[in-house]
Amino acid sequence: MIAQNCRTIEHNDIGGGYRYLVFESPEMATAMIPGQFVHIRVPALEESALRRPFSVFDAADGLVTVLYKTVGRGTAALNGVKVGDTVNVMGPLGHGFPVKCEGTALLVGGGYGVAPLHLLARRLATPKILFIGGRTKDDLLALDRFKKLGVEIRAATNDGSFGEKGFVTIPLDAAIAELKTKGEKFALFTCGPDGLLKAVADRAIANGVPGHISMDRHMICGVGACYACIQKTVRGNSRCCIEGPVFRSEDLVW
Ligand SMILES: Cc1cc2nc3c(=O)[nH]c(=O)nc-3n(C[C@H](O)[C@H](O)[C@H](O)COP(=O)(O)OP(=O)(O)OC[C@H]3O[C@@H](n4cnc5c(N)ncnc54)[C@H](O)[C@@H]3O)c2cc1C
Ligand code: FES
Repeated sequence: MIAQNCRTIEHNDIGGGYRYLVFESPEMATAMIPGQFVHIRVPALEESALRRPFSVFDAADGLVTVLYKTVGRGTAALNGVKVGDTVNVMGPLGHGFPVKCEGTALLVGGGYGVAPLHLLARRLATPKILFIGGRTKDDLLALDRFKKLGVEIRAATNDGSFGEKGFVTIPLDAAIAELKTKGEKFALFTCGPDGLLKAVADRAIANGVPGHISMDRHMICGVGACYACIQKTVRGNSRCCIEGPVFRSEDLVW
């Protein structure tokens, strides 16, 4: 794990309360496994020394990118970081996704949950399909960035403004049925709201395929010391920041 002051290279508002923050760290960019996270000390909150955890959206060419949504005090203060400012970052942290997959990788995300799936898509050599869901088309983030990586996209929106009308499990179930009919192997990888994570974990178990589920729990220390981020598993209480955030579907207790 590295802790260092990193120079901000880009900080772009992409609308809907979302921003890309890009900082320089060749060491972290090289070491980062998809699904791992960084713990950023928000400059304007330095007196409290509290950090905020973010998945890594991209890690390439010496740069690390996070895609974050402004939801409260910490993320609002993070908005004030300007290009050229330094931010103190700890990472890579946690247990990430495997970067090998037999057959097609089905990546399922919603909201900022697509962030770790983007780095995963960059690193996975197998064919991959992104299943992305949201309330409207404005909630479907980073489609251009996934397309650049050659990822096939199947979308669903609650209002039908893009892709299928309804939940993202509609195109996901159709793809699973198609792969099974052809006798092809596949694995599931997901990050997003708990309801989506459980729906994907249930499908992995029901189909007897690997399911890799990235849990989002409130964190304080990010390094295993405070037990703020507990997730129940078949082995008892696990810390999301150490044993997770990525767990196997069969290990999770909901
Ligand atoms: C492993 C991990 C990876 C994450 N990756 C990303 C990411 O890639 N992009 C991103 O935008 N956010 C991500 N988050 C969530 C992010 O850490 C929180 O949104 C952030 O800490 C909120 O800080 P705040 O001070 O702005 O909000 P606060 O003032 O602390 O809270 C504002 C609101 O957000 C809710 N909230 C706070 N933390 C979380 C959380 N962990 N999950 C869900 N709701 C929360 C609070 O309950 C409250 O309703 C991740 C969290 C974890 C644990
Ligand atoms: S955040 Fe402290 S133990 Fe996980």
